[in-house]
Amino acid sequence: MELKRIGVLTSGGDSPGMNPAIRAVVRSAIAQNCQVVGIYRGFRGVLEKLFEEMDARSVGGIIGRGGTILETSRSKEFMLPEGREMALSNLREAGIQGLVIIGGNGSLTGALELHKLGMPVVGLPGSIDNDLKGTDMAIGVDTCLNTIQHAVDNIRDTASSHHRAFIIEVMGRNCGYLALMSALNCGAEVVLTPENEPDLEEVRGILSRYRERNKSHFIVVLAEGAKIKAHQLAKFLESDNPAQHYEPRITILGHVQRGGSPTAFDRNLATRLGAAAVTVLLQGRSGVMIGLVNGHLHETPLQEAVGELRKPDMHLFDLHKMMTQ
Ligand code: F6P
Repeated sequence: MELKRIGVLTSGGDSPGMNPAIRAVVRSAIAQNCQVVGIYRGFRGVLEKLFEEMDARSVGGIIGRGGTILETSRSKEFMLPEGREMALSNLREAGIQGLVIIGGNGSLTGALELHKLGMPVVGLPGSIDNDLKGTDMAIGVDTCLNTIQHAVDNIRDTASSHHRAFIIEVMGRNCGYLALMSALNCGAEVVLTPENEPDLEEVRGILSRYRERNKSHFIVVLAEGAKIKAHQLAKFLESDNPAQHYEPRITILGHVQRGGSPTAFDRNLATRLGAAAVTVLLQGRSGVMIGLVNGHLHETPLQEAVGELRKPDMHLFDLHKMMTQ
């Protein structure tokens, strides 16, 4: 069946670059004589029929805007089989013959379920966590890393002025990618992630080494998914710090990491992936995620993309250690 009308939605946690991805989907569909329906608020919007016809102008001026003009949500109802059946029937009623779904692990799991029910679906990785297999980078990761970098650089200024230790908690859910990359990019002294659980004796050793050298600051980047929590680590640093050399402070970066204008990399990635998603759908393929692998667009079955979490490159932990000797 030749698709003449497709839908696009964003789901789960937003990520900077979702807007240029929506723009690319809409404009490349229109260029190929295919109508596009914007679905607001993710899967919840499918259930509530929050549908709107899109044209090239509906996505004007959004390429540099963070967040998602289509808005997003995490729908519990859609997780249930009845919810998904209702979603399918609402889509069919609106004449939607295929879908582009932009989101992270949970959202692409939902995409897979719709594909299994017979709806043609192509997924795009949109999540700051970078925990999906089948892409080197998800849309939003680069912007997020730049935001973290800016924050850590600022914190280092004040940390050095006071000879303080800072524990900076970054997002990433169960994946330590953001923490590891940020630690590397910012020269943090220690990085703790779920893939590399802390050995407090090692942290103690690094701390005393830096104390002996009279280094002016001690920065720990902590992944939110690591077993040890920021306050526990602060207590540990305090207890191991008789001369109060590095008085600890905690900064939880939180949702500031998810906002902001997408970087050049994210705009480019989003535009390429958005256009490719439409091409793949119109060529009759479904149940795949399009990502970027070794610089090239790459299709991965959704089943593989959302299966096991992607782990950061473990060699980079060694590189980080070498850089902070
Ligand atoms: O998946 C993206 C993410 O930002 C995670 O890094 C974080 O754990 C979670 O979403 C936060 O979710 P919420 O915005 O619902 O608090």
